Amino acid sequence: MGIGRLRDGLAPTPPMGWNSWNRFGVKIDEALVLETAEALVATGMRDVGYRYVVIDDGWMAPERDGGGDLVADPAKFPRGIAALARRVHALGLRLGIYTDAGTRTCQGLPASLGYEFRDARRFAEWGVDYLKVDWCHTDGLGPRALYAKWAMALHAAGRPMVFSICEWGRSRPWEWAGTIGHLWRTCWDIQPEWSSLTDILDRQADLHVFAGPDHWNDPDMLEIGNGELTASESRAHFALWAILAAPLMAGNDLRAMSAEVREILTAPEVVAVNQDARGSQGRRLRADADAEVWIRELSGARRYAIALLNRGSAAREIHTAFADLGITGAARVRDLWERAGADTRRDAIATTVAAHDAALFLVESS
Ligand code: GLA
Repeated sequence: MGIGRLRDGLAPTPPMGWNSWNRFGVKIDEALVLETAEALVATGMRDVGYRYVVIDDGWMAPERDGGGDLVADPAKFPRGIAALARRVHALGLRLGIYTDAGTRTCQGLPASLGYEFRDARRFAEWGVDYLKVDWCHTDGLGPRALYAKWAMALHAAGRPMVFSICEWGRSRPWEWAGTIGHLWRTCWDIQPEWSSLTDILDRQADLHVFAGPDHWNDPDMLEIGNGELTASESRAHFALWAILAAPLMAGNDLRAMSAEVREILTAPEVVAVNQDARGSQGRRLRADADAEVWIRELSGARRYAIALLNRGSAAREIHTAFADLGITGAARVRDLWERAGADTRRDAIATTVAAHDAALFLVESS
């Protein structure tokens, strides 16, 4: 992709894992993190690619220690982060952690301004593999320079860490963050509501040109299994995040999820679209009232993922002609939710999509 974009091989496809924030907020502790890591293994999620267990805001003690280092809250993480990292690693997983670039985290805990090199070194010593750096309490600071300083600090710390930039898309990070971090948030915080999903989606429509291997747009973590999202809405969320080449960070309680939620999060052929080796982010091809067609080019010759999204509150037929996709000859179509060949017309994909749902197809033209 763009010249000068990061290409260090740490995130060749969008990072996948779990993050504590969406479901648990600051109510986190060692037991939750370990039980979640075990659930990633037991549910088969690790084996479809969910690798990073990320502890978000709320892990640190209210003050730095006497030496100036960040320390974990001793009540929540009595054995410390290094011990936790060892146990997470032993399960074949990786550990992620959170800090903030400003004077305090969004939850008012100690943050990293002026401590970038020291904190990066400490995270490296603990065995951290992924770092999210938030942007609260940064009045007067420039994100581009400060996140670049973080990239240097991580490099100096000497341990490969995926670097997740979280300044909510305010200063168009897609234009500069690709040389600095592996992913950058493009929007405000997601909520487990349909309107939040569609608002976020509308902000992604023009960003595909900025993403590629090791540098991804991040439309925020998954809400599948949270709030009142229905199965249809959850499928639409997951299908579109696959088209967007978005990082897939589950945000629900993995210890207690329904079979339906687990099946969505582990749908193998949908995950395969998200993780496609070509790393091209998809785009919106057509928006016609509540019916949208999204397309993502996949690796291999003339292979595409097509999402048919119904934003309306009643079921409707959505179709797209192969000609609109640039396909002239014959094409094979596979339904990636059903994991079966799709029964469609010779010159088009056409299907009935339930309210707030998305169908997802693989189209291979010969
Ligand atoms: C911000 C971020 C969220 C989460 C919280 C934690 O709102 O955007 O993803 O990290 O802070 O306080």
